[in-house]
Amino acid sequence: MKQSDVIKSIGYDQQEIINNILDLYNSGNPIDFDPCYNVGGFYRNNVVKRPEIISDINPQLPGVKKYDVRELPFNEAFSCIIFDPPFIVSGGNCKMAKLYGSFSKVDELRLFYKQSFISLQRALKRKGILIVKCQDFVNGRKNYIFVNEIISLARDMNFKVLDLFILLSKTRPIKITSQQHARKYHSYFLVLKK
Ligand SMILES: C[S@@+](CC[C@H](N)C(=O)[O-])C[C@H]1O[C@@H](n2cnc3c(N)ncnc32)[C@H](O)[C@@H]1O
Repeated sequence: MKQSDVIKSIGYDQQEIINNILDLYNSGNPIDFDPCYNVGGFYRNNVVKRPEIISDINPQLPGVKKYDVRELPFNEAFSCIIFDPPFIVSGGNCKMAKLYGSFSKVDELRLFYKQSFISLQRALKRKGILIVKCQDFVNGRKNYIFVNEIISLARDMNFKVLDLFILLSKTRPIKITSQQHARKYHSYFLVLKK
């Protein structure tokens, strides 16, 4: 194997990371379902194949079904799902919160993950793969290493944690004026197996 072909745990390109995950853990097959589709940024320019079924609580494009990820009408239907929920707490007015949705409290985000994981686990076939895009965040000056909570929740629900990829960024969309913690220039792609 050429060293340049080795799949790395870090990268600047989310489409490359997703395709690497599909090669390693889904036999190169495409994602079946994306329940937080938004405008389908993952599938821009068809580098990653668009799933057969796409949905969002607030569909913005034709062909996107309207489902709440916490109450999906599927039972053991999919081999591979990607889950990219909102990640902002108390940011009602910021641009990202308007684009992607937000939560008023960290506990609300925790409950959302729990309810979503129950619903997604039901929607997955046995041994199905769940790819979760998530990030850590600062809220009320407190640093939440949230990926740790998501991994604990997943393990408590008997998901197997297969891998963790780190998506790096050279820029950040929101400016800050003071800081107590390191500015985060990364997010995660977590790979879980039912
Ligand atoms: C971070 S964005 C996804 C971005 C998308 N992956 C992209 O690249 O364009 C989160 C999405 O989750 C949707 N969402 C929020 N709550 C939801 C829920 N309960 N059920 C389904 N979708 C939800 C939002 O409407 C938003 O489109």
